Amino acid sequence: MVKQKVLVTGGAGFIGSHTCVELLDNDFDVHVIDNFSNAKPDVIRRIEAVANQPLTCFNLDLRDKPGLKEIFSAHTYTAIIHFAGLKAVGESVQMPLHYYQHNLEILMNLLENKAEQTSFIFSSSATVYDTKKDAPYNETDPLSPINPYGQTKLMAETILKDVCSITKTKLIILRYFNPMGAHPSGIIGEAPQVNPNNLMPYILEVASKVRARLYIFGDDYKTPDGTGCRDYIHVVDLAQAHVKAVTLTNQLPSSNIFNLGTGKSTSVLELLAMFERENKIDIPYEIAERRQGDAANVYADVTLANQELGWFAKYTIADMCRDAYRFIQNRK
Ligand code: WQD
Repeated sequence: MVKQKVLVTGGAGFIGSHTCVELLDNDFDVHVIDNFSNAKPDVIRRIEAVANQPLTCFNLDLRDKPGLKEIFSAHTYTAIIHFAGLKAVGESVQMPLHYYQHNLEILMNLLENKAEQTSFIFSSSATVYDTKKDAPYNETDPLSPINPYGQTKLMAETILKDVCSITKTKLIILRYFNPMGAHPSGIIGEAPQVNPNNLMPYILEVASKVRARLYIFGDDYKTPDGTGCRDYIHVVDLAQAHVKAVTLTNQLPSSNIFNLGTGKSTSVLELLAMFERENKIDIPYEIAERRQGDAANVYADVTLANQELGWFAKYTIADMCRDAYRFIQNRK
């Protein structure tokens, strides 16, 4: 039986690599495009080791239009899962034009070159929601990103909804809450090549003694213990939702948006206590000033993904803490 071909852009990245493993485990023929600007080429070998199957990788920047044209003339894909892009919130504030230019140019290059019948699955983010409204957030809630990174996600959603309706392309937008953890094998995980942005990479740097302590950005929020609360979702749960999206594409309406989260929220101090308990390690911390733009409590209403995709997050915060630490320990 000929396997369905799926193109994963940014397939060497954190969520991309875990999604490639789940796609291979579900018998898809996986092609990756990655420019390795934020991931090591060795990740491809690691994906193949975990899945015990080969994949096809193109070392290409999505701004290379002739290169893209060559790939799309040689292959017809059932679906494109588009992860590639600049994704550091802080950096996007420093260089907004670079973010708008890069993230939107690569999206439009893909839309220009893809075959009409190829469905498009887009990696969006909870960062598009207007956090002036209280959580939980559902897919029809007001949208108001507060940084250029979030704006590029919302602009991409708008471009996709317009273009895909005109070209009759099946569209699935997936809004991630806070991805965390690593594959239980300890072979792939979150390995940012530049400064970490998110909470768990910082905790792991303290655990690895790369950093003396964690700074907790504020403990005076209106939350149970005063620290920020987020909907942390295991990266393997997230990856499996993408397989569901590809598999169910034909049964879904022409345009879809799904939140991917657990529907529960965990504070920084709760997460830290869980990490210390699960990994029997002490993580020194200091309370610092609030970080500009942070909301007190962000978590998902995941009813739609549960009902339409038949997808439910299975892993716990304890799993995420153990799996993330195992990956770092294995890298030593
Ligand atoms: C989580 C909590 C911080 C670091 C980001 C971006 C975006 C999105 C999801 C992709 C907050 C606190 C953090 C630290 C801390 N991903 N914190 N000390 O800001 O919820 O969302 O990730 O789209 O990247 O929107 O994630 O991990 O930065 O922060 O106290 O050193 O941890 O205040 O409460 P965030 P985060």
